[in-house]
Amino acid sequence: MRGFAITAPRICVACAAIAAAFVAKYPDATPDQIEFERRRLARAPLVIAVVSRAAPHVKIPEWEQVLSAGAAAMSLVLAAHALGYAASWITEWYAYDRGVLDALGLKENERIAGFVHIGRPAQPPEDRPRPPLEEIATRFGRDE
Ligand SMILES: Cc1cc2nc3c(=O)[nH]c(=O)nc-3n(C[C@H](O)[C@H](O)[C@H](O)COP(=O)(O)O)c2cc1C
Repeated sequence: MRGFAITAPRICVACAAIAAAFVAKYPDATPDQIEFERRRLARAPLVIAVVSRAAPHVKIPEWEQVLSAGAAAMSLVLAAHALGYAASWITEWYAYDRGVLDALGLKENERIAGFVHIGRPAQPPEDRPRPPLEEIATRFGRDE
């Protein structure tokens, strides 16, 4: 696993690659739609790309390598929040577009675990309804 901050000039390369990939998918896209896509990695002052490069390993199963990339992304989100920033872990369509990944310098075996967008909160984050714990957690061994 590795990570990199997407800052100028790489952001221009990434934005151009996303716009180009979008136009390749949707040749009839309007200039507004293309401009929206071009700005996807410019919505926050800092975007950190978390890259999974899971590969066969003598000791560490690939699944655990993938999980550790996820853990790194979540740790970035929690650390940013702890420092008073707002953070969002997203992938979106271009995380799976090889043309964009090439533009970001990812190797063939590398995948995007997430783009962590970090900035100052415009307003306090609202929480969303969460499932009741008993619906998603059980106590092992406890008789029903
Ligand atoms: C691997 C991963 C990819 C995600 N990709 C997206 C995405 O592309 N777009 C999006 O709106 N949210 C995405 N999310 C969800 C957000 O990170 C977040 O969970 C969601 O905004 C709701 O926030 P909450 O989970 O704190 O309620 C993704 C989450 C994970 C773990």
